[in-house]
Amino acid sequence: MHVLAASWPLFHRVGGVILSRWAHFLAGITWIGILYYFNFVQVPSFAGFDAGARNEATAKLVPRALWWFRWGAMLTLLSGISILAFQDNFKGDYFKTPPGVSISTGILLALVMFCNVWFVIWPNQKKVIANAQNVLAGGEADPAAAASGRRALLASRTNTLFSIPMLFFMAATSHFAPFHTSSTSGKRGAFLGIAVVITAILELNALGVLGGVQPGGARAYLDQHKNTIIAGFVYAALLIILFEAFFS
Ligand code: HEM
Repeated sequence: MHVLAASWPLFHRVGGVILSRWAHFLAGITWIGILYYFNFVQVPSFAGFDAGARNEATAKLVPRALWWFRWGAMLTLLSGISILAFQDNFKGDYFKTPPGVSISTGILLALVMFCNVWFVIWPNQKKVIANAQNVLAGGEADPAAAASGRRALLASRTNTLFSIPMLFFMAATSHFAPFHTSSTSGKRGAFLGIAVVITAILELNALGVLGGVQPGGARAYLDQHKNTIIAGFVYAALLIILFEAFFS
C-alpha cells in the first residue's frame, strides 16, 4: 500500500500522460485509418461492383470495418480526455495560451467528427447493412437505404475534410503553438469564433440543413474525395494563416 501511494506521483506525472498519449495515437490511427479506407478505397471500389457483390461486401465486410471505426473513435475520445486529465501543464491559464487555443481547435473539430461517427454515420450505415443482409436472405430491397447511404457518405466525407486541420492542431499544440507568444482574449475569441462558424457551416451542409443532400452546388466539394481533400487543406491553410496572424 505504502509503495503504491509513493509511486502514485510518478505514475501520474509520467505513466498517466504517456499511456494516455499512446492509447490516443493507437486509437486515433485506427479510427482515421478506417475513415480514409472508406473514403479513398471502399466507396470508389463499391461503385464499380455489381449489386450482388456489393450486397455481399456490405453485409459481411462493412460491419467489421464499422466496429473498429466507431470503437476507435470512442477510445480516441476517452484517451484524449485522459490526456487532458493527467497532463499538469493544462491547469491554470493554459487555455489562454497559443497551445491552449491550438488544442481547443483540434478538439472542436474532433468532437464534431466523433458526433458524425456515432450519431450520423453509424445509425445510417446500420440501415444500409440491414438492407443488404435482407436482400441476401431473399427479402425485398428497402427503397430508403440509398438515402441513408447518402447521409452517411456526406458525414464521412466531411470528417475526411475536418481530419486535415484537426490533426494539424492536435500536433501543433506541443510542436508549433509553443513558438507563439502573443495572445489576448480578443484574438482568442476572434480565432475560435471563426473556427466555430466555419466548422458549423460545413457540418450543417453535411447534414443537409443548408439546402438538402443532393450532389453539386454547395456540396460539390463532397462529390469526389479528391476535392474533399483539397477543401481540407484549404480549411487547414486558412486556420494556420489566421493562427500565425493572431498569435505570432
Ligand atoms: C475526440 C476528441 C479528442 C480529444 C479530446 C483529444 C485530445 C488531445 C490532447 C489533450 C492532446 C495533447 C496535446 C498536447 O499536449 O500536445 C492530443 C494530442 C494529439 N492527438 Fe488528440 N484528441 C482527440 C481526437 C484526436 C484524433 C481523432 C486524432 C487522430 C489521430 C488525434 C491525434 C492526436 C495527435 C497526433 C496528437 C499529438 C500529440 C503530440 O504531438 O504529442 N486526436 N489530443
